[in-house]
Amino acid sequence: EDAEKSGYDHYMLKEIHEQPASLNQTIHGRFDPTDESITLDDFEPGEFSDISRVEFVACGTSYHAALYGCHLLGQRGIPAYAHRAGEYASNPMPVDDETLVIGVTQSGETADTLESLRRLEDTPARTLALTNVIGSTAARETDDVLYIRAGPEIGVAATKTFSSQVTALALLSERLHRDITGEPSAHSSGLLQSLGALPEQIESILDSDPTAELTRKYQGMDAHFFIGRGIAHPVALEGALKFKEITYEHAEGFAAGQLKHGPLALVTPNTVVIAVFTGDHDEKTLNNVREVQARGASVIGIAPEDATEVAATVDDLIPIPSSTPELNGLLANVQLQLLSYHFANRLERSIDKPRNLAKSVTVE
Ligand code: AGP
Repeated sequence: EDAEKSGYDHYMLKEIHEQPASLNQTIHGRFDPTDESITLDDFEPGEFSDISRVEFVACGTSYHAALYGCHLLGQRGIPAYAHRAGEYASNPMPVDDETLVIGVTQSGETADTLESLRRLEDTPARTLALTNVIGSTAARETDDVLYIRAGPEIGVAATKTFSSQVTALALLSERLHRDITGEPSAHSSGLLQSLGALPEQIESILDSDPTAELTRKYQGMDAHFFIGRGIAHPVALEGALKFKEITYEHAEGFAAGQLKHGPLALVTPNTVVIAVFTGDHDEKTLNNVREVQARGASVIGIAPEDATEVAATVDDLIPIPSSTPELNGLLANVQLQLLSYHFANRLERSIDKPRNLAKSVTVE
């Protein structure tokens, strides 16, 4: 087993460090930066021209990738909604022949996600599995499949597969826009250029890894709240899930604007708030940061390195290299993975096999 971890203490850390390579696999041959063409495997150009809306079904981290996908599609004018598969299976929504339902599932074996997709069998909706595992049940049972090509993930905490899911969804969103409208979206050039730079930017985060230091400063807090707005919202939810999953400490993710509608009552000087910034809506999230600071909480900001006002406001800054706001969320998430890993490691938790959890949840 030690040999399989290639010198890392845990599979999770190995898989976090594999992300530059796994993302290169995800994007390999799927777009050409010179003419900005997108070739998604065997999908013909115009293949999705009849689609008018997208519904996602997914669980856990894959649900957060789906939420991220909703933002990418929404910014391209395509209505999209993400359902928690456990709920969708009991309460499916009306669909028609212009609906594309995407099951996002790393393993392709999650019972709730499979059950949701099976609910659609006798409907006119088109189904697509976004999965990592070739020949998995989701891949076999849906109309179409798009593989994320992240390579095997052993750690129960999903890391590199989230990054590959979001990256594949970014390409698929742009492709859907082109098929539906006949032209690239306004975000197209920025997205494709930034996608090409992403593996190297992640490499630079992994080389510097500033989060280990913060675990000493913030140990023994009562609660860890992760907040974000827009694309930073699913990233905050994912940061909190990863944190609770492997540290066993209390963590919750919130839409930043939701704080004052309830959760603010929980904020004390023994709360740490981790605020995610992508370069979009930062001013509003900074107002939420000031609100929690006024109640005595400390704030760790994760933000692009050129976000000077964020740097001046938060108590501690974890910088990310600057990309397009659409992909800054992915870079911020890598820092959140490292933050959770270092906290859990300091607490000597069972990082690769957290208590009570399985890698693949095959029961409803
Ligand atoms: C993530 O860290 C979790 N282990 C879990 O939430 C997971 O993402 C979820 O069970 C869905 O799995 P899937 O992607 O294989 O469907």
